[in-house]
Amino acid sequence: MAENRQPEVINDPRAVQERSLGLRALGKSIGLVPTMGALHAGHVALCERARAQNDVVVVSIFVNPAQFGTGEDYKKYPRTFDKDVEKCAGAGVDVVFAPTASAMYPEEQSSFVDVLKLTEHLCGISRPGHFRGVATVVAKLFNIVLPHRAYFGEKDYQQLLVIKRMTRDLFFPVEIVPVPTVREKDGLAMSSRNAYLSPEERTDALVLKEALEHFRSRVAEGERSAMRLAGEMAEIIEAVPSTEIDYIAMVDAETLEDVGEIKGKILAALAVKVGGARLIDNTVLEV
Ligand code: PAJ
Repeated sequence: MAENRQPEVINDPRAVQERSLGLRALGKSIGLVPTMGALHAGHVALCERARAQNDVVVVSIFVNPAQFGTGEDYKKYPRTFDKDVEKCAGAGVDVVFAPTASAMYPEEQSSFVDVLKLTEHLCGISRPGHFRGVATVVAKLFNIVLPHRAYFGEKDYQQLLVIKRMTRDLFFPVEIVPVPTVREKDGLAMSSRNAYLSPEERTDALVLKEALEHFRSRVAEGERSAMRLAGEMAEIIEAVPSTEIDYIAMVDAETLEDVGEIKGKILAALAVKVGGARLIDNTVLEV
């Protein structure tokens, strides 16, 4: 079965680009799943979706230095390459693209992609420069892999919107396919950063999804005040001593601008440090 074939591992960007040009000339469709590795079931869901929709599936594994700020976890970010390739094999991935940082970033790189407005909210506030790093590396990946479709998780909702906007603004001929958040059995959103959690912190981390569940049920009861909802969510989270709230936000799900009243399509998003791990989660509601 093709499902168990080992993917081809390619490190050189130009080699991948040549291969993609050849595939395109043959009329084959290419699906790209960009990742930073430490793959889990969320990443696998993206790969399976790509497998179902394309002739050739490429997964990139690259811990992108440009999207980490000073004092963030670039150095200690989990790197589990051999296991990742095994997971890719299980998901029917054809090519694993794993470049080095020096291959992706020439000395004195002068060109970057800045997506305005959408990046002025949520994670853009506490992680200055983060989305510039994300948009720049994804633009590079699009130009290297030349995919017809690219897959992004709703877990990183703001990232998904930023990539959609960049793709539209810069006329990349790529269809952006969103994939719903995959969760552990107890509801914790899967994340490579969950590996940082001690067993106690792993339990404490459930408070993110509990706060979001509280949000959904209070809105279902009729509560419409974003301020009151955020206050109640903060209380739930602050009751767990290992946590530190970065933000709790209720925003317009298209523009990411703060709303006072829960009305229309709303994104409730939060970023919370549990122990040393900065975790994010979100839910979208149409009222
Ligand atoms: P990474 O965190 O490895 O995530 C890669 C992709 O997997 C992203 O699109 C992310 O939204 C998706 N993903 C992560 N957890 C998920 C979950 N629980 N359910 C569904 N999808 C999930 O996001 C990045 O890497 C980087 O910023 C990247 C886009 C690769 C650019 O460097």
